[in-house]
Amino acid sequence: MASSSSSNVKKMNGRQASPVVQTPVPDFTTWDYAPAPEATDHFKIAPRWELFIGGKWVAPKSGLYFDTINPATEQKLAEVAEANEADVDAAVRAAEKAYEKYWRKMPPKERGKYVYRISRIIQERARELAVLESMDGGKPIKESRDVDVPLAAAHFFYYAGWADKLDYAFPGGRKAQPIGICGQVIPWNFPLLMAAWKLAPALATGNVCVLKPAETTPLTALRLAQIIEEADLPPGVVNIITGAGKTGAALVSHPKVGKVAFTGSTEVGKRIQKACAGTGKRLTLELGGKAANIVFADAPIDQAIEGIVNGIYFNQGHVCCAGSRLLVEEAVHDLVVRKLTHRIRTLRVGDPLDKNTDVGAINSKEQLQKIRMLVDSGVEEGATLTQSPCALPGRGFFFAPSFFTNVAQSHRIANEEIFGPVLAIQTFRTPDEAVEKANNTMYGLSAGVWTDKGSKIFKVSQRLRAGVVWANTYNKFDPTSPFGGYKESGFGREGGRHGLGAYLEAV
Ligand code: NAI
Ligand code: MG
Repeated sequence: MASSSSSNVKKMNGRQASPVVQTPVPDFTTWDYAPAPEATDHFKIAPRWELFIGGKWVAPKSGLYFDTINPATEQKLAEVAEANEADVDAAVRAAEKAYEKYWRKMPPKERGKYVYRISRIIQERARELAVLESMDGGKPIKESRDVDVPLAAAHFFYYAGWADKLDYAFPGGRKAQPIGICGQVIPWNFPLLMAAWKLAPALATGNVCVLKPAETTPLTALRLAQIIEEADLPPGVVNIITGAGKTGAALVSHPKVGKVAFTGSTEVGKRIQKACAGTGKRLTLELGGKAANIVFADAPIDQAIEGIVNGIYFNQGHVCCAGSRLLVEEAVHDLVVRKLTHRIRTLRVGDPLDKNTDVGAINSKEQLQKIRMLVDSGVEEGATLTQSPCALPGRGFFFAPSFFTNVAQSHRIANEEIFGPVLAIQTFRTPDEAVEKANNTMYGLSAGVWTDKGSKIFKVSQRLRAGVVWANTYNKFDPTSPFGGYKESGFGREGGRHGLGAYLEAV
């Protein structure tokens, strides 16, 4: 970070790790914050980022820039171009030109090589990308390092392999061809990984892309644009433009865009669905969730506790498939709550760049306000709140790991996506009741089942109306596995062979 002076760095040396209950709490308020020196030694964040259009970095026609901050410090990291309608149009036209001139004619096997190359360079830059991701979005470095970045590389790697095998992708040797120009809008919870989920299958299937990252976390997508430059993709095959909702709206409604892919809130998803209605555009939506994590009394309880913790506190709970509703069999409710109360006290909350941090910063002030508002509603409506007594840093956006017991189905916290480190716990007595409660939601993205009995896993998971069901694990991702939802969680599948279909026209 440009502003980190050596005196700041000295102050950081020998400091305690993030605050934990019962350990002395470092005074975050008096620090002139600087990231750990070893983490940022090898790169500087450019102070200003333009739009990546047609293989060039171009200033926005809008003339406007906005700041992206580090949510753990509230300090500005860089300023980023705000694309207006004319910029979006330029990006779409650059994509169209690239499609006609290069990408459409490129033999699939050659196309695949470019996608492999992107994967390879992501691996080479893994450390830097992880630090950048944690600084821009607030997630713990151990997650960006061990989950986001390796999975992003794995996604490009996996889809690169499909590029020259598409003739074998569908039953009966059905032939398929690319759609053309894809407009892709992604959220702030997994910025680099979502860029990979969108770009990798689109490119492997022969499409060209205009991608818009979220306004609070644009930096890893912009760094990915540099990687794409380095991988020497023909100019315009991938265009990355930054901006907020207006930019996204201009992109998805551009008449030359043939395929829209969106991950984000259900509310915006519905708006996009309306914008695409009647246009013939292909659309996939990956929206919110309120997943049930079901724990049966016969489950290995200590393992289940770890699964519950990973299900809701991973990435501060900013996870569309988070296990945000715990359904626990009545017989073990008290035991589970007791163990969970103890376990959340051991979670380290604080500096995302500290490799011992378990729960980092909430992505934005707005998101923190939303979490607080919903937690207040839970208390007002009569649920019982338990929070880790950890000390929170005096600066930045943080929220203590929390859960609610005595939750009624009518409570807002049982129905609405909190998108924060807040779990709602309810009980059940029979498998039927568990299934009924799990499905009693407007969402249908994911679920978890914890039991020692294999047959119960199959019986219960078959009846869950959720796109992904994890058994005796949670939040495990793999590029070979399709991901997507039912009901208000959206439609279409990303990942695996299924993910190819979203980017191909069957002929
Ligand atoms: P959002 O849905 O507004 O943002 C996601 C992306 O959509 C961003 O890139 C944004 O710039 C873009 N966007 C916004 N309005 C648009 C429009 N009209 N047309 C096209 N693109 C548009 O999410 P937001 O407001 O940041 O978060 C609000 C809530 O949404 C969160 O509290 C959470 O509950 C939920 N959410 C769910 C996500 C998921 O993965 N399921 C991801 C992000 C948010
Ligand atoms: Mg940011």
